[in-house]
Amino acid sequence: MKYINNKLLIDKISVDRIIKTFGTPVYCYSYKQIKENILKFQKNFIKTKPLICFAVKANNNIRILSEIGKLGLGADVVSKGELLAALKSKIKPKKIVFSGVGKTYDEIMFATKKNILLINAESKSEIDTIVKIAKKTKRVIDIGIRLNPNVDANTIKEITTGKNINKFGLNEKEVIELINTYKNSKQINIKCLSVHIGSQITSHVPYIRMLKSVQKIIDKSNFAFEYIDLGGGMGINYELNAKTLNYSRYAKQVVKFIKKNNVKIILEPGRSIIGNTGYLLAKIIYIKKTRKINFIIINTGMNDLMRPALYKAYHRIIPTKKIQNKIFKRHDFVGPICETTDKFLSTKSYQKVDEGDNIVICDVGAYGKVLSSNYNLRTNAYEILIKNSKVFKISKKISLENII
Ligand SMILES: Cc1ncc(COP(=O)(O)O)c(C=O)c1O
Repeated sequence: MKYINNKLLIDKISVDRIIKTFGTPVYCYSYKQIKENILKFQKNFIKTKPLICFAVKANNNIRILSEIGKLGLGADVVSKGELLAALKSKIKPKKIVFSGVGKTYDEIMFATKKNILLINAESKSEIDTIVKIAKKTKRVIDIGIRLNPNVDANTIKEITTGKNINKFGLNEKEVIELINTYKNSKQINIKCLSVHIGSQITSHVPYIRMLKSVQKIIDKSNFAFEYIDLGGGMGINYELNAKTLNYSRYAKQVVKFIKKNNVKIILEPGRSIIGNTGYLLAKIIYIKKTRKINFIIINTGMNDLMRPALYKAYHRIIPTKKIQNKIFKRHDFVGPICETTDKFLSTKSYQKVDEGDNIVICDVGAYGKVLSSNYNLRTNAYEILIKNSKVFKISKKISLENII
């Protein structure tokens, strides 16, 4: 994305032209950026040769998933719906892992019949359910056990998953007990130890602590896992000049770890693959000026992009026409939803904008469209993909009548 002659382009296509054709609000993704992110991610872990399973929860658009699949990635899913989406996108079952604390009997049965690589169990009760299904289907089911290492990922508290107050995984003692109970089971085959400590992580330090915890389990249990699934969570730069994750320091430790333990590594990145590839294109409906604040009211709301309202996430908002002069007054970019939290951004200054102007909310490829709703009975933004200088419509706009 860049300005040429003060007009914004995404992959060399004018954003205003895209908006003229497709309207607003619309989610727009860049295939070029997706490919670049995947190649960079693979390069970062080149010595580890991991199975990279894209976290479908970050973005479940079928076209996006199939492009990601074609670029060599598998999938990490957390529901039957996500599993169906991954399979429909032609991702091979043996490249799919199933995570989540609340997998139902039906979901596990479905995943078992589809012969996916692993079901990463998160509780003793879930393992009981898997055993039941194994007996019923007369199969041996390959599983992972998810460790909760009680490591603080130093990220937003709402997206922290690896502390002992979080619902995810099992503690060290429980994991070792389960290994001892089931290591000779005829119904389940423990193949993997999995872990995922949170999202938008920008320091390698929590990852090193996480690796130490995993090592402790291996040493104490003396159990030979075939896979270690280290989850995802790698952060991206929502703000220019923000702190970024030092991949090489993390990757170096992973290399040391596999040399010591002779295991295969699985990684489950979501945000780092798709986050910066997506833009939410919108229009300014009204500008409402009060003494202290200019409210820029845009035609997309928290129903389309929930992250700012949900956990005060920051997204840059940029105009499609750049003007150098700034107005030094607080500007709040807000949506039309009847909630005070329906606010995207508050800035101390902004360039002059007018009603009818187009704007772009940046870095919305992950946890954007997937978290959208029809709140206030609004239709959702649909999605387009720019690939090889062409723009493809990649999801349907559901009519208001159908929603109602
Ligand atoms: C089990 C699991 N794996 C992977 C991810 C992907 O995380 P991220 O998008 O931060 O890479 C998540 C998301 O929280 C998750 O819960």
